[in-house]
Amino acid sequence: MKKLLTLLPLAALIAFNGIAFAHGPERKPESRRAILVVSFGTSLSEARHAIDALVEEARRAFPGEEVRLAYTSNIIRRKIAEEEGLSIPSPLEALAKLQDEGFTHVYVQPTHIIPGEELDDIDRVVTAFASIKGKYGFEKIVLGQPLLAGDDDCADLAAALYRTYRDRIGDDRAVVFMGHGSPHAANAFYSQMQLALEKISDRFFLGTVEAFPSFDDMADRLRKSGARRVTLVPLMIVAGDHARNDMADADDPQSWLSLLKEKGFRVQAVLDGLGENDEVRALFLRHLKALVN
Ligand code: CO
Repeated sequence: MKKLLTLLPLAALIAFNGIAFAHGPERKPESRRAILVVSFGTSLSEARHAIDALVEEARRAFPGEEVRLAYTSNIIRRKIAEEEGLSIPSPLEALAKLQDEGFTHVYVQPTHIIPGEELDDIDRVVTAFASIKGKYGFEKIVLGQPLLAGDDDCADLAAALYRTYRDRIGDDRAVVFMGHGSPHAANAFYSQMQLALEKISDRFFLGTVEAFPSFDDMADRLRKSGARRVTLVPLMIVAGDHARNDMADADDPQSWLSLLKEKGFRVQAVLDGLGENDEVRALFLRHLKALVN
C-alpha cells in the first residue's frame, strides 16, 4: 500500500503532463544510450568478420545497449551496396538516424589504428553533432580513441603481438608487420610502434605500405638482423585488400612476399586482421569502456 501511495503522485504527474503539454512544447526525452562503432570498412566479405568481431565485443561488454556500425569509406560502402545489396551507413548517416530514433547519449568508438586523417573526419562529424542544441541534437556525443593514441597503447599492442606471434620468432626467424601508413603527422605512431616492438624483441620489424617506415627501411633492418625466415602479418584491423595483395600476393612480383623472397628470405604470410585477435579486441574494448564509463 505504501508503495502504491508513493507511485500515485508519479502517475498523476504523467497524466497531468500528458494533458498539459499535448499541444505545448515537446517533453524532454528520457535518456537512451547508443554505441556507434566506426570502421574504415572492407569490400572483401570474407575479411569483414574482423570488423564484426569488434562490434560483437562491444555488444558483449554492454549488453542491452544499442550497438551499431558505420563505415567511413564511401567507395567501400557503395561497392557493398551495389554488389551485395547491403547498406552500411556512413558516420553522418548513422548519427542522424540515432538522433531521429530518440537516442540521447552516443559514444562513437573508432576501430582505426592511428589518429590520422580518417579520425579527423569522424571528429568533425562528432563535433558538428555536439554543436547542435535543442531537439535535433544529442544530450551527449563523444569520440573514443583509436588503437594507438599514446605511449601505453604502443607498449600494450606490442605486448599483445608478442604473445600472439612469439612462436614465430627465433635466431633466424623474424616477424614483419605491415601497417598502412599515412601522410598525416600521426604516422609517427608507426615509428613509436616499431620502438615498442624492438623493446620486446629484436626479431620484430615494421613497415608501412604508404609512408614511413617504408618497405626498404624495414627490409634493410631485417637483412642486418641475420634472420632468414620471415612471417608477414598485417598491422591492420582487417586482412583486406592491402594484406592480400600488397603483402601476400605470390603472383605479384611487387608484393612484400615476392620482394622478400627475391632477397632470399623464406616467407610465410598470416592473413588475420587485428580485429580477429582477442588481445587486440581487449585493447579496443579498454578504449570503449573509458569512453562510456
Ligand atoms: Co589503403
